[in-house]
Amino acid sequence: MTLSKIIIILLAILALLFAIVLWNSGPTSKREGSVTAAQNTKALIGGPFSLIDHHGKNVTNEDFKGKYMLIYFGYTYCPDVCPMELQIMGTALDQLPEKTLAEITPLFITLDPERDTVEVMAQYAPAFHPKLIGLTGSMEQIKAVKKAYRVYGAKEKLAEGADPDSYMVSHTSYIYLMDRNGEYVTHFKSRTDPDEMAKRLEDIIR
Ligand code: NI
Repeated sequence: MTLSKIIIILLAILALLFAIVLWNSGPTSKREGSVTAAQNTKALIGGPFSLIDHHGKNVTNEDFKGKYMLIYFGYTYCPDVCPMELQIMGTALDQLPEKTLAEITPLFITLDPERDTVEVMAQYAPAFHPKLIGLTGSMEQIKAVKKAYRVYGAKEKLAEGADPDSYMVSHTSYIYLMDRNGEYVTHFKSRTDPDEMAKRLEDIIR
């Protein structure tokens, strides 16, 4: 065997060892990375809240423990995004087997407590799904739940001379799924296909 052949064989062995090291460390570190990201999100989104349901009853996160919460934040005066998202949520819920649906409490939390009174919420929320509970509260209560769920919602500036009650609220549009302990599981982006939402819910909730 010539020296050059020995060198080639040694290089090949080295390359193989290197590939094995990469192959072993690659997926492992990726897995650790995603676990950390999931834990971070878990810690970041959610937390205790105190609100008023659309029957006028004071409720807290403790009242919803034991079931999954499917939460959407929006406001009833929203002309487009909120009704569309709530429609998607309602359609997805309608597709679930009774057994899965029984494990979910769908919630609609207002970002506009000034206009979304208990009466307004009572008119609005159940129209999208009989199980949907509308939640409102004081400005402070809404501010706190927004902070806990990292939700953005702010009044838009009105045109001069416009009716002061005709303001719009710009806001984030995610549907959160929280587990039986109120901890973040996943979220659904705006315009998620209702079939896909139903399928994911069924996969998660067993
Ligand atoms: Ni909206």
